[in-house]
Amino acid sequence: MGRRTSHSSGAGSAAPLGLVPRVATAQPQEGRLELHGHVQVRAAADLLPAVRPWVRDMAAAFDLDIALTTSGAETSAARPSAVDLSLQADLPAGGYTLRVEQETVHIACADRAGGQAAVRTLYQLAGPDAYRRSARPGRPLTLPRAEITDHPRFTWRGVLLDVARHFLPKADVLRFIDQAADLKLNRLQLHLTDDQGWRMQVRRYPRLTEVGAWRTESGLGSWRAGVQDGTPHGGYYTQDDLREIAAYASARGVTVVPEIDVPGHVQAMLAAYPELGVGGAQVPVRTTWGISEHVLDPDQRALGFVTDVLEEVMEVFDSPWIALGGDEVPTTRWQDAPQVRARAESLGLAHVGELHGWFLAQVCQHVLDRGRRPVVWDEAFSTQLPTRAVVTSWRGWGQGARALAAGHDVVMAPEQVVYLDHRAGDGPDEPVPVGFLRTVADVYAFDPLPTQVAGTLPPGGGTLLGAQAQVWTEHLTDARRVDFATHPRLAAFAETVWSPEQDRSPGSPASTEFLDRLAREHLPRLDAAGVEYRPLDGPHPWQMRPGVAGHLRDLDAELAAGGWDGLGGWTETSGGAQ
Ligand code: ACM
Repeated sequence: MGRRTSHSSGAGSAAPLGLVPRVATAQPQEGRLELHGHVQVRAAADLLPAVRPWVRDMAAAFDLDIALTTSGAETSAARPSAVDLSLQADLPAGGYTLRVEQETVHIACADRAGGQAAVRTLYQLAGPDAYRRSARPGRPLTLPRAEITDHPRFTWRGVLLDVARHFLPKADVLRFIDQAADLKLNRLQLHLTDDQGWRMQVRRYPRLTEVGAWRTESGLGSWRAGVQDGTPHGGYYTQDDLREIAAYASARGVTVVPEIDVPGHVQAMLAAYPELGVGGAQVPVRTTWGISEHVLDPDQRALGFVTDVLEEVMEVFDSPWIALGGDEVPTTRWQDAPQVRARAESLGLAHVGELHGWFLAQVCQHVLDRGRRPVVWDEAFSTQLPTRAVVTSWRGWGQGARALAAGHDVVMAPEQVVYLDHRAGDGPDEPVPVGFLRTVADVYAFDPLPTQVAGTLPPGGGTLLGAQAQVWTEHLTDARRVDFATHPRLAAFAETVWSPEQDRSPGSPASTEFLDRLAREHLPRLDAAGVEYRPLDGPHPWQMRPGVAGHLRDLDAELAAGGWDGLGGWTETSGGAQ
């Protein structure tokens, strides 16, 4: 039969379920359902893709022989199903109900996304062994009896991974997707291009990867320290790699949103095709961090090149959203070039700075014409920006609020809270400590729409789609360091965008409960999955990087200087690029 129900002995009450992110309602009950040997799983046809990764992973982790069939197509009455997934149209979008009963797990899902979320709950209910790739003898898959209802708070539950500053091999990206999916995140913004590297094969412009995908050396620590490592660094993904990454993510409920950052953050592009820059000067792929002044010459040639690249991006990625960057664009080279000043004038712009908005408006329109939605950083929000463009607000919440008021849909990604490359502790052992101090409890207190912001919004306007955590990798040289910066704070972030709204401020009952659940239930899952997270009490000795300089920022001081939303943009000394 492949199932057995055990009842816990004694009078103890049912154990808490330990799910992260917390589900909307959960009623633990006594007893467990045990699956072993041959197991039948039945799903509505639309839900088969949602359950397949679970079937493969559980077969390996618990040595099960799992048969997956479409509901209504059962052939063997001898194998009643142990897990049953059906569609139920009256559930909230992306939601599900899940009942672990005596004989069967019954799951009803609003849609495929609901099925993918339910499956993630099933992984977690099975305990840390569900995250291992092979079975440990004598450990069957057991699930606590329970009744759960659940649905997401926001539709955009994003994480950005910067594979430009440090290339992350494909296998590590797939692993990162597993980790995001486990937390019910559903968008991975893949930052594929920047000054320090270009990571996507483009057939029409092969030099983008031949020249742009590697640099001769990298900064060691903050650029302010002026130390270089003397070691070549590089790598790129072929279009087949990227198709594989997107499909792997999609099967796990995650849409990969590719990001091609223009018209700034393009020095690697200019190293390959110097004619796209102002004056056509040859530049190397940038070997230091910080922000490059080498930006695109915002003319028809650059526009044609970028739209050619985007044609291939949209061939490879079926994402409804295409991210176009638009952040941190120094205009010094435009100001110094008479032909750029003349172009601004001929376009009727008040000054060369407006070419930034003009250029992005053209690129956004191209993406819109192809039936996709552009996503841009908040510097690109201007009256020129098509209203259908999604604005990602990284310089606080204020720009996001203004974009909402102007009718844009918005993703909140304020660097003050959800930049996970920023330091998680203030001790002397934090590796390359940069940015603001944001502990797990600080990230857990993240509010995508604080009341001061909500209060500024006029009626109508755009929709707050959700929020996004960022993993920038100037100082995260490989997957081990990405693990350290990302976890467990990504779990805290995930709960703020998935679980119902509540007071999560540090010291609140919710925060205390979360930190306990994290330590007791979630960290063992990360251990079993082989994720090298930052321990709650500080880094392991081998996670430290003594002698590599960071650069601390003080949130209170900056807030006092600029108001609650008012970091007002980058500068060479206090900007986003560390
Ligand atoms: C950013 O941090 N420049 C989006």
